[in-house]
Amino acid sequence: MKHELPKLPYDLKALAPFVSEEQMDFHYNKHHAAYFNKLNTLIDGKPEADLPLEDLVVKTSGTIFNNAAQAWNHTFFWNCMSPSGGTAPKGDLLAAIQRDFGSFEAFKKQFSDAAAALFGSGWAWLAMDGKGKLEIMPLSNADTPLKHQKTAILTLDVWEHAYYIDYRNRRPDFIEKFWDVTNWDFAAKCLKK
Ligand SMILES: [Fe+2]
Repeated sequence: MKHELPKLPYDLKALAPFVSEEQMDFHYNKHHAAYFNKLNTLIDGKPEADLPLEDLVVKTSGTIFNNAAQAWNHTFFWNCMSPSGGTAPKGDLLAAIQRDFGSFEAFKKQFSDAAAALFGSGWAWLAMDGKGKLEIMPLSNADTPLKHQKTAILTLDVWEHAYYIDYRNRRPDFIEKFWDVTNWDFAAKCLKK
């Protein structure tokens, strides 16, 4: 099975000014594409070649895991943003956030702080455990809630490659602007799964 880079759900320039066309072009066409290319090379002719991407994330380790997880994480991340995003969650997702974090504002602060404090490369995740409880998971490198038997609800990529063209070393500014494009409808769909 050859894994293919999925199409972006919007144009390269659609998320500006959060991220510019050049930033998205590098992130999607260079970094995300490279994880798929590397993964396909690594599994070619191996038993892993028959596994769907999610199974590769859950069942493998080392370099295959790193590339499979980064392929999966980025596709998930693109869906967490929308040119018509922003505002705030509604309905069941808002209720779950209020239940587990106290308020939407408290959740945003905790998520932003976790994303800013994450040392080195990684991802800030909102995830749900088997009992439906939400938690913030700052995870290093390619690590992902799938690997911890949790459901991913929302993520923000805080690898330097995600923001360095537009923000240089100002990761906190990148995090703050993420809330202008957050796709709460997608996050709400993930909660229902
Ligand atoms: Fe990335």
